[in-house]
Amino acid sequence: MLDKQSTVPMYVQIEKYLKRHILQGEFPVGKAIPSERELTEQFDVSRMTVRQAITSLVNEGMLYREKGRGTFVTATKVEQPLTRLTSFTEDMFSRGMKASNRLVSFKIITPDKDIQAKLQLSQEEDVYQVIRIRYADNVPMAIEKSYLPVSLMEGLNEKILKESLYAYIEKDRQFAISHATQRMEAALVNKEDAMHLDISIPSAIITIERISFLTTGIPFEVVRSTYRSDRYKFTSEIRR
Ligand code: GLP
Repeated sequence: MLDKQSTVPMYVQIEKYLKRHILQGEFPVGKAIPSERELTEQFDVSRMTVRQAITSLVNEGMLYREKGRGTFVTATKVEQPLTRLTSFTEDMFSRGMKASNRLVSFKIITPDKDIQAKLQLSQEEDVYQVIRIRYADNVPMAIEKSYLPVSLMEGLNEKILKESLYAYIEKDRQFAISHATQRMEAALVNKEDAMHLDISIPSAIITIERISFLTTGIPFEVVRSTYRSDRYKFTSEIRR
């Protein structure tokens, strides 16, 4: 399970193992995780190493210790600042998690009036419609339905969409992403989305619509995202 030859320190590997199990719900919220002794035996490492991994997750707020009782799982939500324009891949990377996607649908469509207006398109212009399920360490976090002008993103394909869209836009296309506007709402999940997100019905979800612009002022995407409310907490700093 652990790679002893790896340059990644053992405590980091154990930390990742625990994190994955917490996010996958195998160590449920409020329940004790295996004891330090059990983990020491399981991984054949020193108690110090196990303790270091646990301490790191305690500091991150994923676990808490109770004297004489053990170590417990706290809420497993990720904190997502609403102040920076980042990609899903970057967001997960910065938390030590691996982002992956499942492409549910990819097609060219004639957009409705709303998308057309938001992307400032003329009537004849088509858009790519992309639906992706976004995973963090293999746990479904969100569904993203994106609309991108074909005229701007010509050549977009399924292979590109398996990786980061923003990396493609910035590195391969050399477009400069500038800013976005977002609108957030609460809703109840529908049957299909519940299946994609692996959550029960009824469950609350958070939806965000983002319109993103290049530095030239041209809007390049409208994205409707559906976030698991048990996995996300949105934060922002406000000033007077
Ligand atoms: C976030 C945003 C989307 C954006 C996506 C790009 O999730 N809400 O608007 O399209 O990131 O992510 P990536 O570059 O990982 O494909």
